[in-house]
Amino acid sequence: MTESVTITDNRTGETIEIPIINGGVDATEWKKLLGNIWFADSGYTQTAATSSAITEIDGDAGILRYRGYPIEQLAEHSTYLEVAYLLVFGELPTHDQFEDWVHDVTYHTFIHENVRKRFLEGFHYDAHPMGMLVSALAALSTFYPEAKQIADPDVRYKQIVRLIAKMPTLAAACHRFSVGMPFVYPDNSLDFCSNFLSMMWKIAEPRYDANPALAHALDVLFILHADHELNCGTATMRMVGSSHADPYSATAAAAAALYGPRHGGANEQVIRMLTEIGSIDNVDDFVKGVKAGKGRLQGFGHRVYKNYDPRATIIKRTADEVFEITGKNPLLDIALKLEEVALSDEYFTSRKLYPNVDFYSGLIYQAMGFPIEMFTVLFAIPRVSGWLAHWKELLEQDQKIARPRQLYVGAEVRDYVGIDGR
Ligand code: ACO
Repeated sequence: MTESVTITDNRTGETIEIPIINGGVDATEWKKLLGNIWFADSGYTQTAATSSAITEIDGDAGILRYRGYPIEQLAEHSTYLEVAYLLVFGELPTHDQFEDWVHDVTYHTFIHENVRKRFLEGFHYDAHPMGMLVSALAALSTFYPEAKQIADPDVRYKQIVRLIAKMPTLAAACHRFSVGMPFVYPDNSLDFCSNFLSMMWKIAEPRYDANPALAHALDVLFILHADHELNCGTATMRMVGSSHADPYSATAAAAAALYGPRHGGANEQVIRMLTEIGSIDNVDDFVKGVKAGKGRLQGFGHRVYKNYDPRATIIKRTADEVFEITGKNPLLDIALKLEEVALSDEYFTSRKLYPNVDFYSGLIYQAMGFPIEMFTVLFAIPRVSGWLAHWKELLEQDQKIARPRQLYVGAEVRDYVGIDGR
């Protein structure tokens, strides 16, 4: 028997029965009865803006799966590029498919010289790398005007490859500019993460050989950050994509959404918070302050997870592996103490506030030598594959342009008064 809800319009006594399908009720059915009554749902806390077959989250159970595969298995056995393929195309690649995919991504890592020399180098010396990245992504649309042909699957594929491939190059270029170091060209003999680390850290050596364990740890972090269904950034990608803007412009918009401290910018805020706390002796007072409304515990809480974020569990393990090589991040003890205090405090447990992906990721990035300003950029590099998977799915679904409604609460009609009469 199909489950359903029945809605009655008390003004007329009319009712309508709406089936519950895939955990949702179809708003077009609601519209038949209540055409001009809108759902007031700012923040989309109760609105499913699309159907999607990409990522499944069960926030109460702490479950995250990409295309049905548990995140724990992918983090343990897969690679970021394989996961990117899975997200975009829906299946794990065969040997041949994977070889082609890696080849295509590897050979699209270079960026046009004008992007770096004329565009990126035009920024102020202390520009935030995330601001530079957002702008550079938008600028790419002018370098690939054919990207506007979004109906052509071959053109779509090319832009997907380009964007995934160029993200590390752009990210490293933004960093090198901000520290006054010369740009390092991609080395296509290296794997995805080793190449990124080479572009970040290479100085005068002919070839930069990244520590394989650190390159692997970064790869795991990239897998964990690759997609997370309709978060603010991905919803923005779909929103802009629904207007049929080219994928570079849509990706720039998604990256801008990620930049915010309530979203991908939180990993940066976590380190600033831990630094401000300064010592485990100050943790109790800090938590008291949070409970009294003096700011939030950064890296805690999530709109969807009302349980431990499964990515945080994996990240904690990865942190141990990284610290074995780099030495322990001195902020780790404060973070562990903070987690312990918060998880045994009724304020946090009653609100189901647990560490999210950002609570520990910043500690790893910092131990690996990344400046704090790069943390959100590191988040954006792999998230591009998720955004593009959603963009491709959106176009294949032939969705309508996203256009929410509002409840108008402003002034009634009134007559214009000239400036002297006000
Ligand atoms: N510290 C202290 N209290 C918190 C926190 C926090 N980190 N997060 C939520 N709360 C409290 C709120 O004050 C509120 O309490 P109240 O009911 O007494 O008013 C309650 O928990 C619910 O909070 P909301 O703001 O309604 O939760 P929402 O789902 O809108 O917000 C969010 C989710 C933005 C992630 C929030 O938890 C937050 O600001 N966390 C800190 C920033 C952060 O870590 N962001 C990264 C998220 S993961 C990501 O984007 C990759």
